Amino acid sequence: TPHILLSVVFGYLLGSIPFGLILTRAAGLGDVRKIGSGNIGATNVLRTGNKKLAAATLLLDALKATVAAVVAAHVFSLEAGIAAGFAAFIGHLYPVWLKFKGGKGVATYIGVLLGLAPLMVLVFAVIWLGCAKITRYSSLSALVATLVVPVVEWFAGDHRVAAALAVMTVITWIKHKQNIERLLAGTESRIGQKG
Ligand code: G3P
Repeated sequence: TPHILLSVVFGYLLGSIPFGLILTRAAGLGDVRKIGSGNIGATNVLRTGNKKLAAATLLLDALKATVAAVVAAHVFSLEAGIAAGFAAFIGHLYPVWLKFKGGKGVATYIGVLLGLAPLMVLVFAVIWLGCAKITRYSSLSALVATLVVPVVEWFAGDHRVAAALAVMTVITWIKHKQNIERLLAGTESRIGQKG
C-alpha cells in the first residue's frame, strides 16, 4: 500500500543519516572510518576519546529510528510504524550516501525499540549493561541483548513487532561477523580501548 511505501522511504532516509561520521567530522576529529574498527557507530566514535560525541552519536542514531517509527505509526498505522522503523535500521546499515557501507545497527535497534516497544529498551539496557560490566565488550553485549529482546517481545508484547525485531537481530549478527571472529579469537577490543 502507498502508506507502507511512504513510511519505508521516510524511514530509510532518516536512518541513512550517519550521525557518527557527521559529528566526528564537525568536531574536527577526521574520518571515524579510519580508526578502530572502522565503524561509524558510537562504540567506534568513543575510540576517538570523546565520550560526549559518542553519547551524542548513540542518541541521534537511536532517535532517528524512533522518530521514523513513531511518526509513521501516528500518521498511518502500527504496520507503517514497523515498516518505517525497520527501514530506518536498514538505512543506517546500508546508507546510499556511503555506498551502502553503514553501521552495525545497535543504536538504531534501540531506537526502534523506543518507538515501538519502549519497555524493551529497559530489557535491552539491563542485558547490555550487565554483559558490558562483566566482559567490557560492546559488540558481545549487543549481540546478547538483541538475541533476548525479540523473544521477550514475542511473549510479552506484539507478535508483529517481535517478528521485525527478530529479522533485525539476524541482520545485526551478520553485520557483526568480524566482531564475532575477533571475539572467538580473543582479539576484540574492549570498551575504552583504542582498538
Ligand atoms: O555498536 C557496534 C558495536 O557492537 C561494535 O562496534 O566499533 O567495536 O565494531 P565496533
